[in-house]
Amino acid sequence: MMQVFYKKNELTAFIEKIKSQHKIIGFVPTMGALHVGHLSLIEYSQKSCDITIASIFVNPTQFNDQNDLKNYPRNLAQDFEKLAQLNCDVVFAPSVEEMYPEKDIRVFTFDGIDSLMEGAHRPGHFNGVAQIVSKLFELVQPDKAFFGQKDFQQVAIIKKMVEKMKLPIEIIACPIIRESDGLAMSSRNVLLLPQHRALAPLIHKTLLLAVEKAQTLPLEKLKTWVVEQINSSEYLKVEYFDIVDENRLTSLKSLQHGKKQVGCIAVWAGNVRLIDNIVFNL
Ligand code: PAJ
Repeated sequence: MMQVFYKKNELTAFIEKIKSQHKIIGFVPTMGALHVGHLSLIEYSQKSCDITIASIFVNPTQFNDQNDLKNYPRNLAQDFEKLAQLNCDVVFAPSVEEMYPEKDIRVFTFDGIDSLMEGAHRPGHFNGVAQIVSKLFELVQPDKAFFGQKDFQQVAIIKKMVEKMKLPIEIIACPIIRESDGLAMSSRNVLLLPQHRALAPLIHKTLLLAVEKAQTLPLEKLKTWVVEQINSSEYLKVEYFDIVDENRLTSLKSLQHGKKQVGCIAVWAGNVRLIDNIVFNL
């Protein structure tokens, strides 16, 4: 039977028991409205851990846009059902007051990897992510924590935070799960209007073509091509597209053979902001 905890002290008591049994704890933090992408992380955890704990918490401190927070899809009852079906061991679903009994004023630094892309376009976002993930890590004390490559920069941020805080937690990045038409799964996809949903697969399609074109087109031309290709569709508007070094996340001047380079994109589809990425492995 899956156990549901709403309170920190309930979770802490459970963790103490599990720790005394020397079991390996796997953790999957989420904001709920669960889809197959989230569930794949649960399955990865179950493969390599004794106990799998998911959390569902729409974290207000990582939303730089209050409308986005208000409209963020919430579906706790269905989420519990999906997790129970997978035999997830524990779900932690705290309230905002439970996680933030007082304002979190901590400021994290990430040695510059937060200055580009999502960091540049969503001020304060990654600080909020680090606030909640550090609180959750402290409570859950996982051996391993599972994150999706869908949020490529978030994975780098979490790895940096773990390194700086010297936490004994292995961060595992898991592949992007897509709809059959290529659109990266996201909780926000349900907010797309039909005409936007119909065009959204163009994002992944364009990135796939860009990987082919990278063999012949110089980087600047390639970037322009991607942006123009997507913007030429009626309802999509690229916020940024950049190709960065996989580890340092710095913007590249040229593509190189034998190096992992990741093309990251954010696109507005109506009022919904979508992100995606693809590896350029020349
Ligand atoms: P959320 O957007 O709910 O995502 C939870 C986890 O699921 C993240 O690690 C995310 O990268 C992963 N994920 C989302 N879509 C995916 C997909 N299509 N394929 C594979 N993995 C996918 O990311 C957050 O929540 C929050 O920032 C959080 C880390 C929970 C902190 O609040």
